[in-house]
Amino acid sequence: MKKLISGAVALGFAAVTLSAGAAMAADAAAGQAVFDKKCATCHDLGDKKKMGPGLKGATDRHKDDAWLTSWISDPQATWDAAAPETEALKASQNKTGKPKTAMKVKGLSADDVANVIAFLKKNDGK
Ligand code: HEC
Repeated sequence: MKKLISGAVALGFAAVTLSAGAAMAADAAAGQAVFDKKCATCHDLGDKKKMGPGLKGATDRHKDDAWLTSWISDPQATWDAAAPETEALKASQNKTGKPKTAMKVKGLSADDVANVIAFLKKNDGK
């Protein structure tokens, strides 16, 4: 009986540990759902260009989470603010001096943005 109880306690611990791990991974999983719904029409997860560039390596090209957050939350405002990182993106897309970005996103919560960034990092093996 004692053995059975300690077994149950150990199992309980394992369950708690597992669910904590799942909660951390859930960000990227939730981000994948955001990606599928809000980004995939314009972006490939590899190197292929669709309407926008392929996003493989996007979190290496943009290491700054604050920039990524700003860009994904409000591309046009970020475009207008013309920070060096944004100017580099414009140059890579041959759009230096253009007044408008072609990226349009709507209806993302702050959590959606954070989750989709977590997903892009996972896509880059981080
Ligand atoms: C309507 C098409 C469209 C949608 C939808 C879209 N994007 Fe974009 N995205 C673009 C374009 C186009 C660019 C390049 C800038 C430009 O040409 O205006 C871009 C650029 C980017 C970049 C920089 C890529 C690089 O390699 O430097 C990231 C990161 C990005 N988008 C993430 C996202 C995420 C995440 C979503 C979904 C929440 C999303 N985009 C939705 C069109 C889109």
